[in-house]
Amino acid sequence: MPNEIIVGRLKEDLAKFGTEATAFLGKHIVGRGEEAYLANKILMDLLRPHLLLICGKRGTGKSYFGGVIAEEIALLPEKHRNNLTVVMIDTMGIYWSMKLPNEEQVVLLDEWGLKPIGLKDRVKVYVPYQQKKDYEAAGIPVDYGISVPPHVFSADEWSIAFNLPPTNPLSIGLQKAINKVKRNKENFEINDIISAIKDDVSLDTHTKSSLESMLTVADSWGVFGEEGVKTDEVMKAGMINVFDVSRLRSTEAWSVRNLLVALISKDIYYKRVLARKQEELARVGEIKLKERFPMVWLIIDEAHNFVPSNFETVSTAPLLTIVKQGREPGISLVPMTQMPNKIHPEVVSQADMVISHRLTSKSDLEALHATMQTYMMEDVWKYIQTLPKWRGASIILDDNSERIFQMQTRPRLTWHAGESAIAVK
Ligand SMILES: Nc1ncnc2c1ncn2[C@@H]1O[C@H](COP(=O)(O)OP(=O)(O)OP(=O)(O)O)[C@@H](O)[C@H]1O
Ligand SMILES: [Mg+2]
Repeated sequence: MPNEIIVGRLKEDLAKFGTEATAFLGKHIVGRGEEAYLANKILMDLLRPHLLLICGKRGTGKSYFGGVIAEEIALLPEKHRNNLTVVMIDTMGIYWSMKLPNEEQVVLLDEWGLKPIGLKDRVKVYVPYQQKKDYEAAGIPVDYGISVPPHVFSADEWSIAFNLPPTNPLSIGLQKAINKVKRNKENFEINDIISAIKDDVSLDTHTKSSLESMLTVADSWGVFGEEGVKTDEVMKAGMINVFDVSRLRSTEAWSVRNLLVALISKDIYYKRVLARKQEELARVGEIKLKERFPMVWLIIDEAHNFVPSNFETVSTAPLLTIVKQGREPGISLVPMTQMPNKIHPEVVSQADMVISHRLTSKSDLEALHATMQTYMMEDVWKYIQTLPKWRGASIILDDNSERIFQMQTRPRLTWHAGESAIAVK
């Protein structure tokens, strides 16, 4: 009988595959306070799709943990790695450093019997195509420039992206212009929408100038156009695809960032639905299975920005589709958040595993209740409160086995660039 604890794995898979195709997440923390020590390894199933919610207050190790999952997938034996790809939505601009080995924590790695590894050839960094030069000038290695062709979104989606209520005159003007351009041109640009707005005699000057400035600002972020790579053509199995959207953090860039995430999520979903059909046809001997779009682990930092609980953004619908229907086409989702009560309740309730680092308040924990109904809230709270104060200590709830463990995340093999700034040199 293995000593490892395996989470997320079905009984029949466990009997058939044992610990094959699992991710080494960390070790079981046994004992309390000063007495606490690390015991058995905790492994997570990578054979099937999962929804793993990661939460915890600032600086507790969420983003670091996201990198651990990506490493584990990229370092699987070829047989399994060839079926999976990792897509990371990087809101902080910290995951490019996975190309480099974690020399900073060599001592810690050594205590765990591990060695630093850089994943230079397995980590691909994507940035908005017009920002590529700036990244390169800052010494950040970039592999691809990506873009959003404006025509892939409906008039409705554009309104949602700009957070315009449907009855707002700006929304009506924008939708009219987009629908007109769509009728006349297949691949239109932002400038085409602006021209259509200018030409519309039914709009007053205030509406016209507001819409024009909104669209001009959106265009200035260097995201819209046809020039970027087609993500689905370059995303390969066994890779960690890092979409760095960190330079789209400001209030003005926010809608553009969510359009980009909406596009990536839609792409992944449709490509996997198609690939799943090919896999089924191959299984019944109708076709010979060629290279196809791999199963995806979509890891999203600060996920409450993309599927918030209190309003709709343009990435809400595509992400909720993955939440509700992602299992069948083989898409796993790993949303990370400081505040589980700020993320859409559907995301929380569909999670089959939760990793919670220390939380700020009991109300955050209450938000998790939807997914934890089989557990006693008081028990969960006790587990969280008695966590050692180490960075990377969490509790893991596994719906599959209905068990809770305290866990210490293993150290990263690749470098984590997310260290907070300190005011000394
Ligand atoms: N398992 C771990 N082992 C060793 N160090 C860790 C571990 N987890 C986190 N750390 C350290 O803690 C720092 C903060 O972790 P991380 O960036 O993951 O925080 P976070 O929870 O994402 O915070 P925020 O909410 O502010 O984004 C890391 O830079 C790293 O140095
Ligand atoms: Mg973080």
